[in-house]
Amino acid sequence: MGETPRPARRPRRLRRTPGLRELFRETRWDVAQLVQPLFVREDDRIDSQVPSMPGIRRLKVEEVAAEASGLEELGVKAVLLFGLPTQKDDLASGAYADRGVVQQALRTIRQEVPDLVLMADVCLCEYTDHGHCGLVVDGRVDNDASVGLLARTAVSLARAGADVVAPSAMMDGQVLAIRVALDLDGFRDTIIMAYAAKHASAFYGPFRDAAESAPRSGDRRGYQMDPANAREAMREIALDVEEGADLVIVKPALAYLDVIRTARERFDVPLAAYSVSGEYAMVKAASKAGWIDERAVVGEILTAIRRAGADLVITYHARQVAEWERGRAHGTR
Ligand code: PBG
Repeated sequence: MGETPRPARRPRRLRRTPGLRELFRETRWDVAQLVQPLFVREDDRIDSQVPSMPGIRRLKVEEVAAEASGLEELGVKAVLLFGLPTQKDDLASGAYADRGVVQQALRTIRQEVPDLVLMADVCLCEYTDHGHCGLVVDGRVDNDASVGLLARTAVSLARAGADVVAPSAMMDGQVLAIRVALDLDGFRDTIIMAYAAKHASAFYGPFRDAAESAPRSGDRRGYQMDPANAREAMREIALDVEEGADLVIVKPALAYLDVIRTARERFDVPLAAYSVSGEYAMVKAASKAGWIDERAVVGEILTAIRRAGADLVITYHARQVAEWERGRAHGTR
């Protein structure tokens, strides 16, 4: 046996010490890039706890400003609001009611935490008695009738103080209709964050528990995208950008990193990735069982989503991550 050949290149040189590893790290994330979703409930009878989403509470309108203020103090810059109304009906009236639950929440947060960026989901599924994201006419989700109500919802949310409206119903033409309606009402600076590439995903399960928004019958595959389709995701994004979206969302995140990467390469608008409820629930369950290190796994997931090309990450872990980071700044790991 001769001498072992010496490698000419030694990549390990750059990994030798923590300082070197920090210096050569290619991808970083920051608490300022995270968006915390918040659930607001109108009704005391709805339990605050969500069994499938440990650590996430459904807040009463009176509680939401304190939560928002705590988040701002931790360095989180934005929240995304979802509502649980007392009444649901076939016209989703709660979605665009001036005294709707999200509208009330927006007003109190705007009042008490004026600098926080307020985002509001624009969809009908939490407000319809059948649980679909649009109006059901003759047993089918009617696109154009739904779009009118989504535009009305967006204007109502802007009036209540939303900086950003986020249409998530996957109706064709919803972004254009919302832009026109906002402009007509004088909300020229209200930002549209379009859920452009939103797939019909089983990862939304825990959210539907939290928002009580599962469809009573059928499913969402007639409007949300087939998880198999990445090219179609690019067509959806292109349409939303043409219609006036200021930024777009790819959703879910972790199982769709290729879609995030391709979108990053093709489009120059800011890109948000939504790490959805099922992604959160899986991490929580495995860490509760002691099978993974939650903090390390969450850091790795955020890194992966950023590495794929997302600018913002909407994540239920935002608050927790901000708390961990604060602890690190004060020297407790
Ligand atoms: C509303 C909406 C949903 C989510 C965000 N907005 C539910 C759905 O489409 O069924 C899912 C978010 C998550 O799972 O965290 N349409």
